[in-house]
Amino acid sequence: MSDSLRRVRSYVIRTTRMSEAQKRSYRELSEKWVLPYDRTIDWESEFPECRRRIVEIGFGMGDATWRIARDHSDWALVGVEVHRPGVGKLLWWLEQEELTNVRIIEHDAVEVLAVTLRSESLDGIHIWFPDPWPKKRHHKRRLIQPDFIQSAKEVLKPGGYIHIATDWEPYAEHILQLLSDTPGLANRYDGWAPKPDYRPETKFENKGIAAERSIRDIIFMKESI
Ligand SMILES: C[S@@+](CC[C@H](N)C(=O)[O-])C[C@H]1O[C@@H](n2cnc3c(N)ncnc32)[C@H](O)[C@@H]1O
Repeated sequence: MSDSLRRVRSYVIRTTRMSEAQKRSYRELSEKWVLPYDRTIDWESEFPECRRRIVEIGFGMGDATWRIARDHSDWALVGVEVHRPGVGKLLWWLEQEELTNVRIIEHDAVEVLAVTLRSESLDGIHIWFPDPWPKKRHHKRRLIQPDFIQSAKEVLKPGGYIHIATDWEPYAEHILQLLSDTPGLANRYDGWAPKPDYRPETKFENKGIAAERSIRDIIFMKESI
């Protein structure tokens, strides 16, 4: 990991208060479903029933995560998020919906890609509505950077995919260009991807739609050598 990625974070820890329900879920359920970031994930023993291994980065309040887990019981989902109220909310959903195919890592995804995930271990990576950091002087805070994409490519199996969605057009164009310029990744579509059925709408997507912004999906595959 480069020094610049260590120092410049793609997030600011928000001081949003946790609801009583989120606090209770966090207290009672995190031991069961939250994994440490400094230990490699043992997918076979965590998810013996699941055939696809997916990591979702920056799941927010987990709106998309629990719906995908419910609709695809044979997908193993690991959600990575730094915002504790969101972790509490997703734990709450896991309990409500009695889902067992989700684990959470409460840590910076940049380090999770480098430390927690084995090389060529994932079928897919979802990054939906990453913070756009619209001001030019903040662009260095954007999650999607060349080093980050290299780490993401490293943990994908050959044939695995990275799926990014955003409502911020200049960020979408930057991401499309960056992924197109990355050797070993190939666009699954010609330009933007159609929205796949598996991606549920999220709060941030709905905000973008309400502001009449276009939603862009970008899906690239890791090529087999
Ligand atoms: C704009 S929100 C989108 C949330 C959700 N995907 C949605 O569509 O509703 C971006 C989320 O990414 C998280 N995030 C940003 N950088 C991160 C990082 N390096 N590691 C883990 N989570 C991160 C933030 O805490 C925030 O919850």
